[in-house]
Amino acid sequence: MRKKIVAGNWKMNKTRVEVDAFFDQLLNSNYDGEAELIICPPSIYLNGLPQKSASKNIGVGAQNCHYESFGAYTGEVSSDMLKELDVKYCILGHSERRTYFNESDEEIGKKVSSVLNSGVIPIFCCGEKLDERQSDIHFQVVEEQLSEALFSLDPDEMLKVIIAYEPIWAIGTGVTASPNQAQEMHAHIRKLISNQFGNDLADKISILYGGSCKPDNASELFSCKDIDGGLIGGASLETDSFLAIANSF
Ligand code: PGA
Repeated sequence: MRKKIVAGNWKMNKTRVEVDAFFDQLLNSNYDGEAELIICPPSIYLNGLPQKSASKNIGVGAQNCHYESFGAYTGEVSSDMLKELDVKYCILGHSERRTYFNESDEEIGKKVSSVLNSGVIPIFCCGEKLDERQSDIHFQVVEEQLSEALFSLDPDEMLKVIIAYEPIWAIGTGVTASPNQAQEMHAHIRKLISNQFGNDLADKISILYGGSCKPDNASELFSCKDIDGGLIGGASLETDSFLAIANSF
């Protein structure tokens, strides 16, 4: 059985006080659903959070890191530094990183390798723009993103990767991919992984959906065969809506 995961991507949101309030509420919530919960706060808040949330098995992740271990990269954080704080996950290749920080597939591929070398699990994001879907090249776009960043990994490395399919036109827009559109792409992604690494491995990879996933559409999305959970932006900022999504399985 594949792992079910609901991960919150907080982006550049929340104050220290708000972070503590969220975690206090989450840790007191008695959540016992089948999905693993992961929270990815801004990196300045990561220190101490993995220890605080360990008792309830809540994973903590970063939203990005550099591919070098150390050096003259002002403003950056490395995967070794994340590991030192016991941060278990790192989102990589989010469309906002690709768009606003010009991250290429090649750079994201280097980040994936570096994160895996440090013993951190990558949550690799892929997804097409609206015009790419309208031009009917969305399958091809996602295939290129996967093959350039992931397909030269060894099978044992690939097995550790979590994938998030996030159509860019659905992120923060309130427009969600329909369950059919999402399932179709998730099945495509699994097929590509299967072609590259074999069926057994592809069957074990958790593929999350992201893009305006909310309490009122999560259960329909999560009931699709190849959708193993969600990467949640806006709706992960409040404990109630985050838990409502997690309880949608
Ligand atoms: P959203 O963001 O849920 O606010 O659309 C998802 C994401 O960017 O990961």
